[in-house]
Amino acid sequence: MTEKPIKNSSMSPNDDLDATKVPYQTVYTGAKIPAIGLGTFGSDRYSGEAIAEAVTTAISVGYRHIDCAAVYGNEHLIGQALRNATTVNSIKREELWITSKLWNDKHNEADVIPACEKSLRDLQLDYLDLYLIHWPFPNHHAPKVDVSSRDTNAKPYIHENFMKTWRQLELLVDRGLVRHIGTSNMTVPKLKLLLRDARIKPACNEMELHPHFQQPELFKYVVDNDIVPIGYSPIGSPRRPDRDKTESDSVDIEDPVIVRIARRLNVHPAYVCVAWAVQHGHIPIPFSVKREQIESNLHAAVSAPLTDAEMMEIKGIDKNCRLIKGQVFLWKENQSWEDLWDIHGEITQ
Ligand SMILES: NC(=O)c1ccc[n+]([C@@H]2O[C@H](COP(=O)([O-])OP(=O)(O)OC[C@H]3O[C@@H](n4cnc5c(N)ncnc54)[C@H](OP(=O)(O)O)[C@@H]3O)[C@@H](O)[C@H]2O)c1
Repeated sequence: MTEKPIKNSSMSPNDDLDATKVPYQTVYTGAKIPAIGLGTFGSDRYSGEAIAEAVTTAISVGYRHIDCAAVYGNEHLIGQALRNATTVNSIKREELWITSKLWNDKHNEADVIPACEKSLRDLQLDYLDLYLIHWPFPNHHAPKVDVSSRDTNAKPYIHENFMKTWRQLELLVDRGLVRHIGTSNMTVPKLKLLLRDARIKPACNEMELHPHFQQPELFKYVVDNDIVPIGYSPIGSPRRPDRDKTESDSVDIEDPVIVRIARRLNVHPAYVCVAWAVQHGHIPIPFSVKREQIESNLHAAVSAPLTDAEMMEIKGIDKNCRLIKGQVFLWKENQSWEDLWDIHGEITQ
């Protein structure tokens, strides 16, 4: 599909896109997190240099929130883009919201603080706004492996171990290296235990969220507990690696409801997905290296173009279609990926 000029939104296409127009959410500490961020996982298709360039572009058009992770392998390049933003373009550090994530092979107590310090060095920052535990499992895999690959030391979720990792994240806050800590790829039963035992509670929970995967129960639990939901793969990750695609996966940007609304607005269906996210109340972090898409996604976040009726219609197209299933993190032979997601309401052992 080709990008069309944006029309008929509450912003005119000629309006300047600038950071002051971007809405934000307030986390429980009172800090403000911009209501859209730029994703930086290149799905093996884009070089780290191209992604760092996308960060520069995004900041220049008004993004102030960048979603990074050590495992994306590009923080050292993004660091230079962030440095340029603050030195060359005089953006104040406190205007930016930078997230990074602890990878699964660094859950051991002794590894957490050094891993965060490495992300800080790579990103050329003194502190992170948000540091997430990327997955609640210490199970990892080599880059680009097939979904049938398994870590031979893989384990189920063990709450005692997760809390040991969490305590180290709490220490990062105590030391001022991190302003907020949070979770990613969690479930309601796991979050219940964390909220029971945390000294510093999670500020944000990053979860897969797009029109065909709305996770209403987890979303409500997160919001009810004053945790800000950040939605990954907000466009339905159309360029995710082929190994992460299955035949039953649906395609958000081809959904008739999304396409019809896109036609009304004269925009790409991706625009509708991003607008839906912001109006629904979570923070999308769409990935793109293309200036027109980066701008269009920011426009979508600022415009709030969807009517109440359209929001209701999109609520009705949820297909419970999880795209990022996480098979490589399973810990037993012949397991189903559903075991990672506690679909029966209890933590699967
Ligand atoms: N916490 C986690 O475990 C986790 C998991 C997955 C992702 N994430 C984060 O979430 C971010 C986003 O997720 P994602 O990359 O999987 O999926 P996504 O943002 O849903 O999809 C990205 C793709 O959508 C296309 N696109 C973006 N904007 C567009 C526009 N305006 N018009 C048309 N097409 C557009 C681009 O395709 P083309 O490249 O073809 O232009 C881009 O590659 C990641 O980069 C990462 O930061 C986190």
